[in-house]
Amino acid sequence: MISMKIPFSPPHIKQEAIDEVVDTLQSGWITTGPKTKLFEQRITDYCGAKKTLCVNSATFGLEICLRWFGVGAGDEVIIPAYTYTATANTVAHTGAKIVMVDVNMNDFNLNLEEVKKAITPKTKVIIPVDIAGLPVDTNELISYLERDEIRSQFSASTENQEKLGRVLVLSDAAHSIGARLFGERIGKFADITVFSFHAVKTLQPPKEVL
Ligand SMILES: Cc1ncc(COP(=O)(O)O)c(C=O)c1O
Repeated sequence: MISMKIPFSPPHIKQEAIDEVVDTLQSGWITTGPKTKLFEQRITDYCGAKKTLCVNSATFGLEICLRWFGVGAGDEVIIPAYTYTATANTVAHTGAKIVMVDVNMNDFNLNLEEVKKAITPKTKVIIPVDIAGLPVDTNELISYLERDEIRSQFSASTENQEKLGRVLVLSDAAHSIGARLFGERIGKFADITVFSFHAVKTLQPPKEVL
């Protein structure tokens, strides 16, 4: 038998990163301090988004958004059938029903025609997932959700749902920071976009933003 050791995502940590960590540990801030705010600002600028909020993981980011929107028992959330468990778990935690739709054969992203068929008056959120950094066309999805006949099916049960007045598009972009849609970086197309900075996620922004 041949045994092989294949390292799983060996971290690439430069001295600059180590220095930043030491600097933070010596700064008196160990949670949401000035470096977190700086990071949020840089992500906002990088994506051309309105605002960024850092939390501990993409999993928590998805769940906090579902809870902020008031998703719970009796509601439905549409997700792709092919994704990481976190996309579904966070919906399950809220008590809402997970509605899985099929994916495309070319990019493994959720199929927008299947999404349209799965929308019911109980649908509160759609979570498109950008598999392997290939973004879903959330512009097309939002345009569809804004059509009068689709909007009128939406029944708001919280203040935030009332304000939006339609199904929320919460992009699970855990795989895709830096990806582009119509030549522009994602992060501003969906209603909310959630990124992951877990060690296995590809992250190589251009030098000017580092
Ligand atoms: C599609 C998808 N969504 C969410 C997550 C969760 O990311 P995190 O580990 O930052 O919670 C992952 C992680 O692998 C993922 O692949």
